[in-house]
Amino acid sequence: MDVFTEEYAKQQDERDPLRRLREYFVIPSKADLARKTLTPRAANDGGEDAPSIYLCGNSLGLQPTLTRKYMQQYLDTWATKGVYGHFKEVEDSNLAPWLHVDDDVLVDMAKVVGALPSEVAVMQTLTANLHLMLASFYQPTKERYKVILEGKAFPSDHYAVESHIRHHGLDPADAMVLIEPESGASPILSTHYIRSVIDKHASNTALLLLPGIQFYTGQLFDMLTITDYAHTKGITVGWDLAHAAGNVPLQLHDWDVDFAVWCTYKYINCGPGSIGGAFVHERHGKVKERDGAGPGGEPKLEYRPRLSGWWGSSKSSRFAMTNRFHPTPGAAGFQLSNPSVADTTAVRASLDVFKQTSMAELRQKSIKLTKYLEKLLDRSAHELEKPSGQCFSIITPRNPDERGAQLSVLLKPGMLDSVMESLEEAGVVVDERRPDVIRVAPTPLYNTFQDVFLFAKHFQDACEKAVQSGGATSPSQSIMADGGKEDRGWSEIK
Ligand SMILES: Cc1ncc(COP(=O)(O)O)c(C=O)c1O
Repeated sequence: MDVFTEEYAKQQDERDPLRRLREYFVIPSKADLARKTLTPRAANDGGEDAPSIYLCGNSLGLQPTLTRKYMQQYLDTWATKGVYGHFKEVEDSNLAPWLHVDDDVLVDMAKVVGALPSEVAVMQTLTANLHLMLASFYQPTKERYKVILEGKAFPSDHYAVESHIRHHGLDPADAMVLIEPESGASPILSTHYIRSVIDKHASNTALLLLPGIQFYTGQLFDMLTITDYAHTKGITVGWDLAHAAGNVPLQLHDWDVDFAVWCTYKYINCGPGSIGGAFVHERHGKVKERDGAGPGGEPKLEYRPRLSGWWGSSKSSRFAMTNRFHPTPGAAGFQLSNPSVADTTAVRASLDVFKQTSMAELRQKSIKLTKYLEKLLDRSAHELEKPSGQCFSIITPRNPDERGAQLSVLLKPGMLDSVMESLEEAGVVVDERRPDVIRVAPTPLYNTFQDVFLFAKHFQDACEKAVQSGGATSPSQSIMADGGKEDRGWSEIK
């Protein structure tokens, strides 16, 4: 069958062993997206109730159907049991008593990131967790004080690292090593190149922080090789997994990662701003007791330094109000506050969907979906080339082992607004990174091959329209407008 037909896409969907998982999600209709209200104002106000083409799980994952059900149970428990909700089982609820909601999700969250349950905590938010991890893992000395991170790191990571460096009285200009792309032609950072930067600063670097998947380019880093290499140089390694968790299989424990942080609102589908995750390797979470060595003959506790709060203290001592911090062994000992039960309820609902499959199965489908997207986009680029010139290029690595679900598409300068407007009109949701990139992420839990097919069709139309309306400038004009300083990777496709 012709790969470039909608029939082919439908056939792939019929053969997809994970197709039933889409039913666990609320897919907004095109009319839902177009309306300015939550519900139709009149019976005939429904418009086109065809499902939208939502390829934006890299930004905000769609709502699992279980979320509403579990949220209602949480609200009903609060309404009918009040404070008892903390301690008492409710027989007709899927949720654990609130005192245990965080523990209740650990086994399933650990599977998503390849960790032991005790190495994972569901707490705070990504940036807050990064601060907590830096407070514990970044202990600069005179000899080792530098932090290596990407020059184009997500700004929050940059700010967090910068603030810790200043907090220790150091100068970011000296202590922050920013990995910039080797040339203006490609934003991709090869493992070989990262190793060379590590080599250059090895003797005085304390910590390396990188993203599992780069938010802008969609590049998947070789976490095992990079972690191993940095460890041989005595460098602590942390990963920002915002775009990797729930997207690609991870083996944080086996890879011997020191710490990692992630959010749950992208590929983990827990809702905007929902609670984050943190990984602390088993070897860093130990709490040792030395008999009789502490004040008053109590056991002396030895554990990694950290910023502490009562929720990190062991459950037996948490309510004793003794002011003696006795951390729970593992990542749980890094918690600060009692977690938001509304957030954790959303995590429970989402992980109950992940439980229906495995990260390995999701990855298998994801590779196929993204390859299909790549094939269709390559054809569009080719078809557009004659009448319109080169309209876009894919800046994400072409090797499926070096990317997750997302492809980042670099548009010819001046096209972005027009393309995004056309896609919105067609009920297609992707996101943009200015000045010229759109990120397209088919998500294996709920996206179909047909979604990908329809996206590609609308995208090609949108590009044609943008060129016809004269939005696009020529590449050379754009480079001149940057004074020749910033290439943006455009030269790659010239
Ligand atoms: C790569 C990356 N790091 C950090 C963040 C910040 O996350 P938060 O706002 O949850 O702290 C984001 C948010 O999208 C992100 O994509």
